[in-house]
Amino acid sequence: MSVPDRRTVLRSGLAAAALGAVGAAAGCTARPASSAAPAGRRLIGPDGPQVAAAEAARHAAGGTVLAGVAPGAGHVDLGGPVVATWSYGGQIPGPEIRVRKGQVIQALLANRLPAATTVHWHGAAIRNDMDGVPGMTQPPVAPDAQYAYRFAVAQAGTYWYHPHAGVQLDRGLYGPLIVEDPDEPGGYDHEWTVVLDDWIDGTGYTPDQVLAALRQGMTGMGRTAASPSPMASMSGMPMPGGSPAPGSRPAGPSPVLSGTARSSLLGGDAGDVRYPYYLINGRIRTAPRTATARPGQRARIRFINAAADTAFRVALGGHQLTVTHTDGYPVTPARADALLIGMGERYDVTVTLGDGVFPLTALAEGKNATALALIRTAAGEPPPAGVRPAELGGRLASYPGLRAAPQARLAARTPDVTCRLRLTGGMSRYDWGINGQAFDMTRPGALRFGIRPGQRVRVIFANATTMYHPMHIHGHTFALGPAGPRKDTVIVRPGQQVACDLDADNPGQWMTHCHNLYHAPENSGMMAQLSYQT
Ligand code: C2O
Ligand code: CU
Repeated sequence: MSVPDRRTVLRSGLAAAALGAVGAAAGCTARPASSAAPAGRRLIGPDGPQVAAAEAARHAAGGTVLAGVAPGAGHVDLGGPVVATWSYGGQIPGPEIRVRKGQVIQALLANRLPAATTVHWHGAAIRNDMDGVPGMTQPPVAPDAQYAYRFAVAQAGTYWYHPHAGVQLDRGLYGPLIVEDPDEPGGYDHEWTVVLDDWIDGTGYTPDQVLAALRQGMTGMGRTAASPSPMASMSGMPMPGGSPAPGSRPAGPSPVLSGTARSSLLGGDAGDVRYPYYLINGRIRTAPRTATARPGQRARIRFINAAADTAFRVALGGHQLTVTHTDGYPVTPARADALLIGMGERYDVTVTLGDGVFPLTALAEGKNATALALIRTAAGEPPPAGVRPAELGGRLASYPGLRAAPQARLAARTPDVTCRLRLTGGMSRYDWGINGQAFDMTRPGALRFGIRPGQRVRVIFANATTMYHPMHIHGHTFALGPAGPRKDTVIVRPGQQVACDLDADNPGQWMTHCHNLYHAPENSGMMAQLSYQT
């Protein structure tokens, strides 16, 4: 086993290959005052001194927390169905990594998968070279190899980790990353993490076969399951992914949804993939996880949507939710009956528990199926597995209805630079992209958006497709409008335009992409590069 250290990695030519020279086209428009781009702009690489300086400024004084990340293949019981899949440490979700803000996480990835992998720490503003994007911030980690992640976490919140390789996320490879804030008031008796997922692996189709089916469309079904990665592998470096074993053929009904999943909440088309199961904390609804408490106690629930192609509408029967955090950052507490959670998004809520057995139902939005967990504060019969509490149809928390808590607000400032990302493509040709182009890391071209340290950056996602896209920016948490909630992943509905403001305070090369895994598999599709340049 080899444990490449950062220096070897960076000397390997990876950075040079991924970064190249600054291309001519960078699709951002600068405010006139700052438009004079100095000649000879250079990319700030993951190994840049600016990255080290930003890390030093995180002032980690809380010590180091060791964590193991052990992806491997094996069988997992989903509460009845036992599936052959890939998971972290044999459990789904993977082990929760829990630290306090100001601590350093030292996580050893030991890859026991039959494919190369990486770990991305979704939502956490960490040093660029630990961001887990193969071919851009690190080399892929080969089967049986190890990789040492080490980074400070300065911001508390609910985050999660997953591979940034192939379509591995749609196996069982995801886990919560919780960063506690000792200064937070708390005021709850219980804290539960609730991870939502859509599930197909091990039931007939692997995620690679799902992707192949989507690309072939309905007509090509059953021809061949394995399709080569759309991106050229970089010289000397195999791209991760995990093609299905040679000879393996998908079985069972086609997983391709052709426009039959509809949701007015999502503005139309609600998904590309038909899943046999939906899970809360690794369980199907007939074998739900149960949390126990006493009536009148308060609980904090951290919701994470780790699904690949499913937004969930979530409610707790008989209860109102108080939304306290969006994507890790505090909001002015707001009441709601239900939440709509896109892939990659997180919400924290508090609830005051009633007396009884209550269904926590996650409705697969537009797909007419549910996942379930139970909260029990008294003896009694549980509700039926398919229960849909009335609160699902009640008042929904919405972005415009939420305000960042005062300490979490982004200071008012005119953007120095505006990057316009038009979301393009569609289901029929499966050509999801940005500005009419599918991302290719080796030739980012106009999909490399140049920004400079210290700038206020506005990223505009303009959805020109007939489907919603949960758009994610790595390494930063943007604001949705003045005093709006802080987010790192935002649902953009068809025809909608969403402005995301951020401070360019975390130098490096960062991906921004749709968190529908099949719209941006590997490092392709609906994806672009936010590129710090000097
Ligand atoms: Cu969870 Cu690049 O994302
Ligand atoms: Cu998408």
